[in-house]
Amino acid sequence: MCGIVGYIGNQKASSILVNGLLKLEYRGYDSAGLATIENGKIEVLKDKGRVKNLYELEKKNNLTGTVGIAHTRWATHGMPSKINSHPHTDETNSIAVVHNGIIENYIELKKFLEEKGYNLVSDTDTEVIPNLIHYFYTKETGNDKLKILRAVKNACDKLVGSFALEILSKDYPDNMIVVRKDSPLVIGKGFDEIYIASDIPAILSYTRDFYLLDNLEFAFLSRDSIKFYNNNLEKFQKEATSISWNAASSDKNGYEDYMLKEIYEQPTAIRETIGSRLDGENCNFYELNLDKKYLSSVNQIYIVACGTAMHAGLSVKPTIEKLCKIHTQVDIASEFRYKDPLIDQNTLCIFISQSGETADTIAALKLSKKKKATTIAVTNVIGSSITREADYSIYTHAGPEIAVASTKAYTSQIAMLTLLAIYFAETLDSASKDIIQTLKENLLELPSKIEETLETIDQIKDISKTMFKEKDVFYLGRGIDYATAEEACLKLKEISYIHSETYAAGELKHGTIALIEEGINVIGIITDSNLVKKTVSNIEEIITRGAKTTIVVSTTVSSMIDKSIFDNIIVVPDTSIFLSSIVTVVPLQLLAYYISKEKGLDVDKPRNLAKSVTVE
Ligand code: G6P
Repeated sequence: MCGIVGYIGNQKASSILVNGLLKLEYRGYDSAGLATIENGKIEVLKDKGRVKNLYELEKKNNLTGTVGIAHTRWATHGMPSKINSHPHTDETNSIAVVHNGIIENYIELKKFLEEKGYNLVSDTDTEVIPNLIHYFYTKETGNDKLKILRAVKNACDKLVGSFALEILSKDYPDNMIVVRKDSPLVIGKGFDEIYIASDIPAILSYTRDFYLLDNLEFAFLSRDSIKFYNNNLEKFQKEATSISWNAASSDKNGYEDYMLKEIYEQPTAIRETIGSRLDGENCNFYELNLDKKYLSSVNQIYIVACGTAMHAGLSVKPTIEKLCKIHTQVDIASEFRYKDPLIDQNTLCIFISQSGETADTIAALKLSKKKKATTIAVTNVIGSSITREADYSIYTHAGPEIAVASTKAYTSQIAMLTLLAIYFAETLDSASKDIIQTLKENLLELPSKIEETLETIDQIKDISKTMFKEKDVFYLGRGIDYATAEEACLKLKEISYIHSETYAAGELKHGTIALIEEGINVIGIITDSNLVKKTVSNIEEIITRGAKTTIVVSTTVSSMIDKSIFDNIIVVPDTSIFLSSIVTVVPLQLLAYYISKEKGLDVDKPRNLAKSVTVE
């Protein structure tokens, strides 16, 4: 799981490469490197540490080459170190490669190469690739332009696993080859220059026209042309996709961190998500060809995802069951894919993934297709891998999300899945018109409700000052509030490194209450007025044992409780219970953010995490 950037044009490649890497650091940040071709020779700069180290290195070394490749790493094979950093070259320094993905059979390939006399120096899986290309290149007898392409293809034929590769050869100083399988890669076309990256925001300031490579498609690049080849090395044409996001939407725009910017972008993101879905009489999903006959045949829905996306699934399960009367299960992709799930042609599987690149989610989707289920991908990234596998793809349109900890993608996913539940219910005629009408109105009011909620910021900053030294924090909720508590708790863990756990409010007394002692912090969420008394009495049980309590409550709930017993009360606007996660999570995203800031941590790039987990 890494980020790659490439450039081929008339400008100094190295500075463009470093700028691109800075935008991809969310994909990995334990080492960084680049290679350019300087007077027919491959020059490599690399080291462990953040891209800013590479930036300093780049400033000291005056590289002038106009063709180059670059990489920011998140270690999978071999510790972060200079030698394990990318680019990797063959031992004659004639081929340089950057790689995102994992080569599963690298030990076998390493053995093969060593038997042929190659000397590999790193602990990585990637190093076999430039050496294999070199091996096949030396076996080529022809002297035509495509000799290097054949060598790359022969090497790729030997690779088991996932890869997005950029390849430089000193014999082709004006060209680059790129290829991908199960790892993302986009090619952007400018005027007499080509940009390559793991994802669009890294190069969005240079171009809006992109080519999306499919699995095992090769591109042979010159500064003024892109030639596409399939896996039999037959040439073919590809259409460019134009992107409407602008570069500013992937910059910090005056905010201190991407996470804060993305929290504040939630009203706009939700507006975009809802878009034109609600403009007619019925909820509109023109891209789905799922009629009443098909939906009536569905006897179960599976929502499968990882991390925050899975929490979005937990929040919408009750909505789907209530509106559509179809039994709905939510599963973690890495569990689902290994448990031989009971699904068939009467199962509808929905896969949620912000990036659309999460390896476990994609594998779960492939398994569901094999078992004949209908599959829908809900993702934020146009053309991402998941959209090429699913029967149907729905885009959340939340705009680029850069901070590792997901915020606006989560709330947009819940909004989109609620719309989908409405669409199913309208097609099936399974819910009352009144319930649906109220939910639609509540959806449309969400942006202004989030704006109102963001006004709790000063209160949240104050609470963060009293909480940032804590070692443990507990989160509680019931029903949908429990699902929201799971997400709020994950936010705190991810960016503040404080140990935290979530419990269903009524389950505390069955064991966990033993952990409650004087001074421990407990955060409760209460929005369902029918359940207020139950949850408050659970919280009273822990107050009696000395816990400090902060609660997030809807306006209606706040009018029903004795406020004097809580240490902090955060009041958010009322909305439908089915949409409550979208409102109640906001102050808790802010709380995690400000606790992390109080601790002086790197909010956008928390330790050990990456935004897009393209390995199992
Ligand atoms: C990583 C990220 C999480 C994210 C999860 C799923 O673990 O750090 O923030 O929720 O992947 O990502 P996806 O792109 O599939 O939604």
